[in-house]
Amino acid sequence: MTSMTVNGRPVRFLMDPETPLLWALRDAANLTGTKYGCGVGDCGACMVQVDGEALRSCLITIAEAEGRFITTIEGLSRDRTHPVQQAMVAEQAIQCGFCTPGIVMAASALLEKTASPSEAEIKAAIPNLCRCGVYPRLARAIERAGRVARRQERISAAPVPGISAADAAREVPALGIPGEESD
Ligand code: FES
Ligand code: FES
Repeated sequence: MTSMTVNGRPVRFLMDPETPLLWALRDAANLTGTKYGCGVGDCGACMVQVDGEALRSCLITIAEAEGRFITTIEGLSRDRTHPVQQAMVAEQAIQCGFCTPGIVMAASALLEKTASPSEAEIKAAIPNLCRCGVYPRLARAIERAGRVARRQERISAAPVPGISAADAAREVPALGIPGEESD
């Protein structure tokens, strides 16, 4: 059993400790916003925040994540009002959307460190691959998100999601939620 905090909630994964965090999140916790692209650390589609750092979840085992605080795209902002989410939509920096959760997690970690990142800092902090080629709009979106974070600009929020991640996770037996387990 491997314990950690996922999106502010204590969880225990009843899985092989060598399981990549990506699969624990997707298959056990039903947090499918974290995407599987390459599985070998190249694409960034699987990025989550671990203790505030953007990391590729395909490269971390749940044993390595034990006791740490994990944030996925589902936990970044339940109502999609994070400045990066608002700016990505406003700048239309999304095409098929497959790379988007990983990019948002990397960008939001960057803005936690600096709300006014340079172009070089954006490139260094967001190495994610996008097969649709949203890169020019992406840079504009991150700069705009920084202005929102600095309260120099406001963007209307996107509509709230209609799915409860907690309800979905409760249906998955490989995920133990303390206080709600049957054993
Ligand atoms: S799936 Fe993890 S970096 Fe591509
Ligand atoms: S928007 Fe399609 S892969 Fe990035």
